[in-house]
Amino acid sequence: MIKRIWILTLFPEMFKPFLECGIAGQAFRGERSDSIKFEMLFVNIRDYSQNKYKSVDDSPFGGGPGMVMRADVLKEALVKGVQEAGGYDSLDNLHVIYAAPRGKVWNNKIAREFGINILGSNEQDVVLIAGRYEGIDERFLSKYVDDFFSIGDYVLTGGEIAIMAMLDSAVRFVPGILGNKLSAADDSFEDGLIESPQYTKPRDFEGMEVPQILLDGHHKKIQEWQHQQKLMMTQKWRPDLLIFK
Ligand SMILES: C[S@@+](CC[C@H](N)C(=O)[O-])C[C@H]1O[C@@H](n2cnc3c(N)ncnc32)[C@H](O)[C@@H]1O
Repeated sequence: MIKRIWILTLFPEMFKPFLECGIAGQAFRGERSDSIKFEMLFVNIRDYSQNKYKSVDDSPFGGGPGMVMRADVLKEALVKGVQEAGGYDSLDNLHVIYAAPRGKVWNNKIAREFGINILGSNEQDVVLIAGRYEGIDERFLSKYVDDFFSIGDYVLTGGEIAIMAMLDSAVRFVPGILGNKLSAADDSFEDGLIESPQYTKPRDFEGMEVPQILLDGHHKKIQEWQHQQKLMMTQKWRPDLLIFK
């Protein structure tokens, strides 16, 4: 299956290192799995500006600081840059997402659902829109956007980093992307806890030894120890996660 991910942005170049590095880069270059091949395509919103200065923004009605991205430019970018260029019959073939502070706050559960049901599904291709300036004209958002996601309660200067964070955390859950050896199931948040501490060589680092239990080879005892450690780590670092346990 081929899954296309379209990014509407003023700064496509920000995604270059993302696509070049690591597991996510490999996945979104379509090189990580035979069962799902991602294609990441970029639409530079500026290419759809109708004016000779190629501006995409204008001052807000009602006054106020900053500039707002124009609804007509965004619509052109979506319809011409994605729907027509991608050969889609209608916008219904696309799941359009805007990264924005108002959105549902991203977490591991949303990343998993997004990875499995949106990135991993063969129904709709995905469009992710990165805003800039003070954001996008509300009329475009209300008509063309299906989902809004925020990566936290703070304001970025643009949506590109938010989109990369969302895609990076979600692609790990797409079947076939991590593979058997690297399961997401042992990672932090999967069972509501922080992961247990990890150790590798050397066995003695500046007088600190690796816990003996990890060297003894008793699989069941190691698992019990790791579970206890998870509880302790969570209590120490993220006690808020234990509140409802
Ligand atoms: C300077 S921000 C605009 C903030 C907007 N005026 C507000 O107060 O909500 C520019 C762009 O960055 C992105 N952005 C900012 N903070 C974000 C967050 N926490 N999560 C996701 N995207 C964010 C959005 O795409 C937004 O359009």
